[in-house]
Amino acid sequence: MNWRVLGLGTAVLWMVTVGVIVALFVQGHTRPGADGRTEILLAPAERDLILAEMRQLLKSVHGVVTVLGSPDQHLKAAEAAARSAGMAMAADVNPAVMLKLPLPFKQMGMSIHKDMDHLADGIAQGESSVQILNRLSSMTSRCTTCHDMYRFATTK
Ligand code: HEC
Repeated sequence: MNWRVLGLGTAVLWMVTVGVIVALFVQGHTRPGADGRTEILLAPAERDLILAEMRQLLKSVHGVVTVLGSPDQHLKAAEAAARSAGMAMAADVNPAVMLKLPLPFKQMGMSIHKDMDHLADGIAQGESSVQILNRLSSMTSRCTTCHDMYRFATTK
């Protein structure tokens, strides 16, 4: 065996491996969905976990909006509702699941968690209802954008 050929073969294999990992990280595990959205393929338990997070996101938005509209404006409750969907929520996402999610999905998802923390900070600092609603609107526009782009499907 010629060592130079072996070395070259190793280098090519290495590049292919890195290429596959980068492609996975960007594209995730996806296929075109029947309704025009991109379908992200997940194991049933992974899908359940992300959908549970989604319902929590809606509860957080609901919690903040409800406080804003109530006469006594219980701001501690609004801050807690926002904080519960902050970066702490994203911390325990399994790396294998992260590889299955396409890059724009990861970016939008992370930006929502980051902005939930910023929202909680804004509420704690006494921002006005209009400022808080503007923050919420910037987030809900990302909820709807992502929902228009992606859906989940399960694999065994
Ligand atoms: C990064 C993409 C993304 C973002 C951002 C996002 N979602 Fe979702 N959400 C999804 C996908 C994908 C589904 C599943 C849709 C499907 O399979 O048809 C979903 C489903 C849901 C569901 C249904 C849960 C269930 O049990 O079926 C709710 C509620 C929800 N999202 C709320 C929200 C709210 C509120 C926000 C914003 C604060 C948000 N989502 C932001 C991607 C996203």
